[in-house]
Amino acid sequence: MERIPEPELMEKKDQVISYDEADFSEGEFNLVNQISQFLLRKKISLNEKDLIVDLGCGPGNISEKLAIKWPNTEVVGIDGSKEMILRAENNKEISKNKRNLKNLRYICSDIKDIKLTDFLLKKEISLLVSNSLIHHITHLEDFFNTIRSLSSNSTLNFHKDLKRPLDEKTALELKAQCSTKYNKILTNDYYASLRASYTFKELKNFTLRNDLSSLEVFEDGDKYLIVYGNL
Ligand SMILES: C[S@@+](CC[C@H](N)C(=O)[O-])C[C@H]1O[C@@H](n2cnc3c(N)ncnc32)[C@H](O)[C@@H]1O
Repeated sequence: MERIPEPELMEKKDQVISYDEADFSEGEFNLVNQISQFLLRKKISLNEKDLIVDLGCGPGNISEKLAIKWPNTEVVGIDGSKEMILRAENNKEISKNKRNLKNLRYICSDIKDIKLTDFLLKKEISLLVSNSLIHHITHLEDFFNTIRSLSSNSTLNFHKDLKRPLDEKTALELKAQCSTKYNKILTNDYYASLRASYTFKELKNFTLRNDLSSLEVFEDGDKYLIVYGNL
């Protein structure tokens, strides 16, 4: 199936509300557990001197879980959509875990404009994470240039995203499954996301052709892709 890009930022109010109100907690806990396993494997333990950055953080679901999992580590969520950052700030404010989220803050910025030398990021990044972001980025080089410029030798990258279905029929089946759980706006967004997603081959070939082969690209089940490693 051919890739059909979608807008990078999620800025429409009804779209943001639908996304924020949906329950993706199972996948989010899986993602945090996966990251935790990878850190264990690398014998990395995160503490006060470390910084975790969550790119394309949306309403902060994953940023919050990272902040709770590593309570002594500063967590920064970055999103270019003002609406999303407003939701993220509000979710933090009303969270029953508010007292455990003092290590979490948000920045509203396009990821392409953030640099490691940015005064907003006061430390080197130990863990650079994203979930469901890559498919929003129109040109793959923008995503990889961003993570390259934000990573130091010791930054562990972990980026998970949807994998583009093989054909339109599969995409429509996945859309139909989604519609049994989520509202129409979210279902249409999910379908647009499936069509905008990259394939394993596109991501893998990009890393091989652009001196990024220290990053592993692998399939996670039949629906997801993971980009992982140091740069
Ligand atoms: C599908 S949401 C994922 C949100 C969150 N990571 C999660 O897993 O729940 C994608 C988010 O990436 C943000 N985004 C897309 N392109 C971006 C860019 N170039 N710079 C900053 N944020 C971006 C969108 O605004 C949106 O909030």
